[in-house]
Amino acid sequence: MVKVLFVCLGNICRSPTAEGVFRKVVERAELQQRIEIDSAGTHAYHIGAPPDTRAQEAARRRGIELSGLRGRKATRLDIERFDYILAMDEENLQNLMAICPSGLEDKVRLFLEFAPSRPEREVPDPYFGGEQGFERVLDMIEEAANGLLAHLRQHHQL
Ligand code: 4NP
Repeated sequence: MVKVLFVCLGNICRSPTAEGVFRKVVERAELQQRIEIDSAGTHAYHIGAPPDTRAQEAARRRGIELSGLRGRKATRLDIERFDYILAMDEENLQNLMAICPSGLEDKVRLFLEFAPSRPEREVPDPYFGGEQGFERVLDMIEEAANGLLAHLRQHHQL
């Protein structure tokens, strides 16, 4: 089992979107028995909360259901347990590095490393913006999710 954890700040916009999008990509490839997927936030603001309604609506327009997800905070144990801990932006990456057990730093990466044809390195925080921000986030996440699956196939004999 390859274990992938998506991480943002609140775990109500970007990382649950990444979880839902990647779940769909993995199910389409019939690899759901081989890849475990979860998401978490680096802050505690939204523990137990469902994804932001704007994130849910944007995902639903692309056939992805996020309503069952609930916010939780990332821990050191997550970094031990998961193989890929994928941060949405540099701030999330730094927050994860601050709790990372020594020697495991290589597991923590920026998610957009898997979308090398895009100019951006970070998935921008859409929380304080409009609907358009959520569409852009989805476009970026869809591209990186496909790149991530290709990477996992190549490196884990999937
Ligand atoms: P996320 O977005 O990190 O993509 O879930 C945010 C959600 C909430 C807040 C910031 C970003 N907040 O400040 O409450």
